[in-house]
Amino acid sequence: DKGNHRHFMAKEIYEQPIVVAQTLRAYLQRLEDKVTLPIPDFDLSVIKRVTIVACGTSYYAGMVAKYWFEQFARVAVDIDVASEFRYRAPVMEDGGLMIVISQSGETADTLAALRHAKAEGQTIAAVVNVPTSTMAREADLLLPTHAGPEIGVASTKAFTCQLAVLAALAANLAKAKGRMTPEEEKAIVAHLAEVPAALNDALGRDEAIEAMAGAVAVARDVLYLGRGTDYPLALEGALKLKEISYIHAEGYAAGEMKHGPIALIDEHVPVIVIAPSGPLFEKTVSNMQEVQARGGKVVLISDAEGIAAAGEGCIATIEMPKAHPLIAPIVYAVPVQLLAYHVAVAKGTDVDQPRNLAKSVTVE
Ligand code: F6R
Repeated sequence: DKGNHRHFMAKEIYEQPIVVAQTLRAYLQRLEDKVTLPIPDFDLSVIKRVTIVACGTSYYAGMVAKYWFEQFARVAVDIDVASEFRYRAPVMEDGGLMIVISQSGETADTLAALRHAKAEGQTIAAVVNVPTSTMAREADLLLPTHAGPEIGVASTKAFTCQLAVLAALAANLAKAKGRMTPEEEKAIVAHLAEVPAALNDALGRDEAIEAMAGAVAVARDVLYLGRGTDYPLALEGALKLKEISYIHAEGYAAGEMKHGPIALIDEHVPVIVIAPSGPLFEKTVSNMQEVQARGGKVVLISDAEGIAAAGEGCIATIEMPKAHPLIAPIVYAVPVQLLAYHVAVAKGTDVDQPRNLAKSVTVE
């Protein structure tokens, strides 16, 4: 049932404030200002190294988590797509935690990676949305997302719920490693608790995004740029756009532009820049200005402060609510999803069932 939405994808984008809140309820103890995991008996302090493996959108959630685990817990993280991890003789030392991330819990390559790591003596944590799935059963530690069934082939609400769980895991790892004071934990709980309302605000930009989608729908190629945790979001934006609108899109780390891809820039290639105000803002903006100096047409996704500072000269801006850097990647997923959605609708493609794709990839 699509409710009053035209597509499951739209319905699932709109469900995010509720399902992320539902997911966070399983990980936040609001009254005690604590962030916990539903695996009370496991001692995270023994974890020496983290390996993250997933595919597609779930992999991009893992990329965001790598920044969090390293920043908050100071634990080294190795991350790879499952289809590469399986065949590259990865080095996994004793005391390692392997995290698999999967909406379906059935993706063949991710499951094979799980089994491989298990045989190598790793502890397996599974961030999965389907609690009865094979990965959920075979993992040592189950960290469920509570997104509910996801029908649209393009993953949306599963992604933001994965990020919520991974933020909670990063905080717990930091605590276990003695790298988080009760005051810092309290602040993290407060920031995470703001996510559902911030997602709701972000959904309020839907009409503005729909209005500018036409400028992207005519393009043959689109670039997405971001830095830090916005880099995986750029990759996710490009993946969403290509899979449902069939427009060629690529995500790049903003600082990599001048190492090659800037040669592609002309007035026919829209460049979507994801840059919330914060410590990396100036750096991303200077990469954006290099694009503009070469005639590139930029769409800037930022908050009021960022748009006031750098919105001039952009063909469009998408103004987001102000979000703390910890939660920004969760909140900024919404405009990236909505943009892909409206471009696909403008192009008349089959949004929920894009060609050549299946919801659950159970073959390698
Ligand atoms: C993209 C998308 C895919 C999946 C990937 C992994 O919108 O849906 O890239 O994210 O196939 O699927 P799961 O998470 O079920 O392992």
